[in-house]
Amino acid sequence: MPNPILPTGKEKEVFVKEMFNSISPSYDRINRIMTFRFDQVWRRQSLRSLNLPARSTILDLACGTGDFVKMARAQGHRCVGTDFSIGMLSHSQLFGDLVVSDALNLAFSDSSFDAVTCGFALRNFTDLIPVFIELARVLRPGGRVALLEVAQPSSLILKAGHAIYFNKLVPIIGGMLSDKNAYRYLPASVSYLPPPATIVELLVKAGFSNISHSRLTTGAAQLFTATKAG
Ligand SMILES: C[S@@+](CC[C@H](N)C(=O)[O-])C[C@H]1O[C@@H](n2cnc3c(N)ncnc32)[C@H](O)[C@@H]1O
Repeated sequence: MPNPILPTGKEKEVFVKEMFNSISPSYDRINRIMTFRFDQVWRRQSLRSLNLPARSTILDLACGTGDFVKMARAQGHRCVGTDFSIGMLSHSQLFGDLVVSDALNLAFSDSSFDAVTCGFALRNFTDLIPVFIELARVLRPGGRVALLEVAQPSSLILKAGHAIYFNKLVPIIGGMLSDKNAYRYLPASVSYLPPPATIVELLVKAGFSNISHSRLTTGAAQLFTATKAG
């Protein structure tokens, strides 16, 4: 695997796909360890923020090993997961309704979902606007999105502690338990993320309204929710 040099365009697409294929066997275990299981708390908060009626039809974009899919199905929703990494999908231990597709060119018809969830994937896409346009296309009018991502706390003290943990310890722990380069890429990839205000602007451009941005757990994660204009 090449060094994580933060590639762009096609090079980034290939790098990200290969990286997730390679870390897929240990992805869930390392995620739980590194976030002290807060990743599941944040997913639960994201789903709750959508305020969906029972038995809604949800797309989990870049679903990886399917944590959102399992949670949404356990709540009685129909949830389809999609990802471009066959390795991640095959370690989901899920059956049915898992589709290999690229977030920039989704394999779903227009207006086919009530909601979309997306966990920790925005910074891995090669471009955000085409993804947001795809989300608006596959959502029904009035459909909702919840986009969950990592973030940095805003308080100076928490920011310093978080930086030491995320930038120094995470690559060491990840390197010991899995692939060193992949877990060096993880903190580095945060620099792909535009500031929240820019993400909000892109969502507006793609046809979303009623957009909110919130920080979770003192800012270690962030959540965008939005509604497809009717
Ligand atoms: C950090 S993982 C997150 C997985 C899962 N959403 C979660 O909450 O654990 C990022 C996922 O995004 C997927 N991904 C990245 N770029 C993608 C793209 N263009 N199309 C589809 N999936 C993509 C990767 O394969 C990987 O499974």
